[in-house]
Amino acid sequence: MALHLPDFPWDSLAAAKAKAQEHPDGIVDLSVGTPVDPTPRVLQEALAEAADAHGYPQVWGTPPLREAIAGWYARRRNATGVNPDGVLPTIGSKELVAWLPTLLGLGPGDVVAFPEVAYPTYDVGARLAGATPRPMRNLTEFGPEVPKLLWLNSPGNPTGQVLPVEHLAKVVSWARERGVIVASDECYAELDWREGAGSPGNLTAPSILDDRVCGGDHSGLLSVYSLSKQSNLAGYRASFVAGDPAIVGRLVEVRKHAGMIVPRPVQRVLEVAVGDDEHVAAQKKVYAARRAMLRPALEKAGWRIDHSDAGLYLWATQGRPCRESVADLAELGIIVAPGDFYGRAGEAHVRIALTATDERIQAAVTRLTTL
Ligand SMILES: Cc1ncc(COP(=O)(O)O)c(C=O)c1O
Repeated sequence: MALHLPDFPWDSLAAAKAKAQEHPDGIVDLSVGTPVDPTPRVLQEALAEAADAHGYPQVWGTPPLREAIAGWYARRRNATGVNPDGVLPTIGSKELVAWLPTLLGLGPGDVVAFPEVAYPTYDVGARLAGATPRPMRNLTEFGPEVPKLLWLNSPGNPTGQVLPVEHLAKVVSWARERGVIVASDECYAELDWREGAGSPGNLTAPSILDDRVCGGDHSGLLSVYSLSKQSNLAGYRASFVAGDPAIVGRLVEVRKHAGMIVPRPVQRVLEVAVGDDEHVAAQKKVYAARRAMLRPALEKAGWRIDHSDAGLYLWATQGRPCRESVADLAELGIIVAPGDFYGRAGEAHVRIALTATDERIQAAVTRLTTL
């Protein structure tokens, strides 16, 4: 079977990057969402303490890790009924997103649906399985032929859009009526900038497993989560999936055969990280400050910011093709991601990441506001 994977899109930014590098005060790279702040001390220590890992780790994760993740869903996500048997650590979320259709046994003739402006790996995952990728605007687009797997991404990358409880509840009942599995990719949930977010009862952007969304019934549902962003753990590959124990059990079986195992020291770091809210709150403050600098500077420079209610990006437009905007910003030494990386519906936007140091964000602000 010939695999038809898209070109790796970042290669198309080489010319803009070269231009930006010519700036006398250096490039400000806001094109990727890779954390720049240190991994919190408490997590580095957890890693060091777990350094003796002579035996094979458990694919399913240690029982204390799965208990800790279930506890995190109850405490932070209003999902009180997560069964530790329905929890599985993953080697970063990207790996799971790319392989979930395959692990579920999907293949030719099966449809995998995902938002029309989206993280590209949902599409890649469908292709790796030989299934049909289907970007979608809303569920009414499906006639009798429904997808086997439906991806949601809230808060969304690149848009920063948050799907409210009522919307998620409607999706769940639509999917249940049709036997569709819903996988909800939620890794920006703690980085919610909306008024009242972070307050009791509204701690994070809602999960698909939230009691108000699914009534505590997790059948057919998966919440996909990553600590890369909120805990500066991208280099550890520390993520997990939780939800329907029957589906997770199937994933565990295949992953045992395939040797897809989170290293034991990283499992320990995950366990400590989901039990410690303090470092997440501290990192959120850092991003909030960067966002408070960058957003008004862009608006002052004539940009409109759409959505961007949560997450690590500003979804910005000047109402013209994204590649022109990318080229203009490159003249200022600023590099951003063109919206067409995320689907044709993104062609008039650029994605501007908050993942740069305070000093580089300040440099961007200065350049944008002294035109
Ligand atoms: C929407 C979304 N899902 C998944 C990931 C992957 O995260 P990781 O593989 O670091 O866990 C990212 C990273 O940028 C993302 O934006």
